[in-house]
Amino acid sequence: MMHPLAQKDIQHIWHPFTQMEEWCKEEPVVITSGQGTMLRDQYGRSYLDANASIWTNLHGHRHPLLNQAIVRQLGKISHSSALGLANEPASLLAEALIRAANPSRLFGKRGAPCANPKLKKVFYSDDGSTALETALKMAYEHARRSGVSGKPRFLSVKNGYHGDTVGAVSLGQVPLFHRAFGSLLFGTDKVMSPYCYRCPFNRARPERSEARFSRRCQWECVDGFEQKLEQACKRGRPHAGWVVEPVVQGVAGMVVQPQGWLQRVARLARQASIPLIADEVMTGFGRTGPLFASHGEGVQPDFLCVAKGMTGGYLPMAATLVTDSIYQSFLGSHSSGKTFYHGHSYTGNQLGASVSLASLKLLQQGESNRLRRKAITRNLSAGLQSLWAIPQVGDIRQAGTVVGVELVQNWQTRKPWDASLRIGARVCQVMAARGVLTRPIGDVIVLMPPYCATPDQIDTMITVLQQAIVEVMAQ
Ligand SMILES: Cc1ncc(COP(=O)(O)O)c(C=O)c1O
Repeated sequence: MMHPLAQKDIQHIWHPFTQMEEWCKEEPVVITSGQGTMLRDQYGRSYLDANASIWTNLHGHRHPLLNQAIVRQLGKISHSSALGLANEPASLLAEALIRAANPSRLFGKRGAPCANPKLKKVFYSDDGSTALETALKMAYEHARRSGVSGKPRFLSVKNGYHGDTVGAVSLGQVPLFHRAFGSLLFGTDKVMSPYCYRCPFNRARPERSEARFSRRCQWECVDGFEQKLEQACKRGRPHAGWVVEPVVQGVAGMVVQPQGWLQRVARLARQASIPLIADEVMTGFGRTGPLFASHGEGVQPDFLCVAKGMTGGYLPMAATLVTDSIYQSFLGSHSSGKTFYHGHSYTGNQLGASVSLASLKLLQQGESNRLRRKAITRNLSAGLQSLWAIPQVGDIRQAGTVVGVELVQNWQTRKPWDASLRIGARVCQVMAARGVLTRPIGDVIVLMPPYCATPDQIDTMITVLQQAIVEVMAQ
C-alpha cells in the first residue's frame, strides 16, 4: 500500500524532465523534512543530499541563520512590487552582489588600467532560465542600438545548457532536450565544448587520471572559437554575445574545462568586442572555489547570471549583473523607446533577497567560507581516488565541490554504454536504496555536497557510489 502523500503525487503532479509513465509505476520518495546534509522521507528514512537538491543548496537544510533571515523579513513584509517601488533587502543585496562580483584583484592596483569591465547594475528575476533570458534580451538590444548588427546572433558552446524558456533553449545546445522544440527557436552559432575526455583533438592515451590533466593538444578548441568570430565579422554580423558556463558545463556532464581555456577564449572575444555572458547559475557562489568561477580564470564577464545557490537554495530568485556600458544603452527620455520592457511579478522579492544576503555573509565571512570549501574539495578529491580501480569508471572530473564520474564500458576504449541500459539511472537507484540521493546526467554520476557536509558524510557518498557502480556492473 502506497503512502497517501505518494498517491497524491502520482495522481496530480507532472514532474520536470521525467517520463511520467515510468514514474507512476513506483512509489516515489516524498521528502518531508531536511536538516543539514540530510533529507528525510515519508517513512522517516534518511538520505544524504549528495547533489544539493539539484545544485541549489549551499549551507545545508534548515540553516538557523537563513531561517532567521526569512523569519525576520516575514515580520516586516514578504513581497511588494519592484515596478515603481524600491525595497530594503533588494537594495542591500544588489550592493553586496556588486561588491562581491568586482573583486579588487581583477582590477589591478588602485586605478591601474585593466581590460576587465566592472559590473555595475543588478536586474532581478526568478530562476536560472530567466536570468539568462534577461541577459539575452539586453545583449540583443545593446547590439542593435550600438550598431553592431540589425539582426544580432549569439555564440554558445556545444552541449551548453542555459534553462528552459524559449530564449534560453535557443542559446542551449543539448540535442536531447532541445530537438523537439527546433522550429520554435532562433538560430545560434556554436563552438566545440572543451570536453577533453571525448575531444577528437586530444592525442593522449587513456590514463587512470582526469583526462583534462593529461590532454595532448594544440588548443584546437580555441582556434575554432577564433575562426567563428572571424567568420561572423567577415559576414558583417559580429555576435551580440557569447554565452558560456564558466569552468564547468553542468548539464553537459560536469565537463570541467582545462585550465586557461576560459581565459584564452575570453581574451579573443574581448579583442573582437563581443560581450561575454557568463552563466554562473550552477558555478556561482563558491561551487568551484572562488565566489564566481569566471574570476578563478581572471575573467570578468559583461553579464553575470546567477540563480540556484543565490538564496542558499531556499527560494527561487535570480540576478543578472551587467556593466555600465550595457546599462547606458537603455537610458534616454521616456519617449526615446529605450526602456527595457521586461520583468516579473516577483522581481526583487524581499524574502528571497533577505535570505540571499544571509547566504552571501556565510560564504564570505561565515562557516561556508573559502577555507571550508577548500576542505570539502580536498576530502572529495582524496576519496575519489579509490574509484579509479573500477574498470568502468572512465573519467572523474572535479572542480572544487563539483564532481562528475563518467561511466563507460571500458576505461581503455572509453566506449559509452547504450543509452537504453540507463546505467547512470540504475547506479543512482542503488545509491538511493543505500541512503544517498543524487541524479545522473546520462551515465555521469554527480556529487555536489552542501558546504556543511562532514568528512564522514563525504566518505559515505563516495563509498556508496563505489558500491553502487560495482553492483550495477555485476548485474
Ligand atoms: C548552467 C545553468 N544555467 C541555467 C539553468 C537553468 O536554471 P533554472 O532551472 O533555475 O531555470 C541551469 C539549471 O540546471 C544551469 O545548470
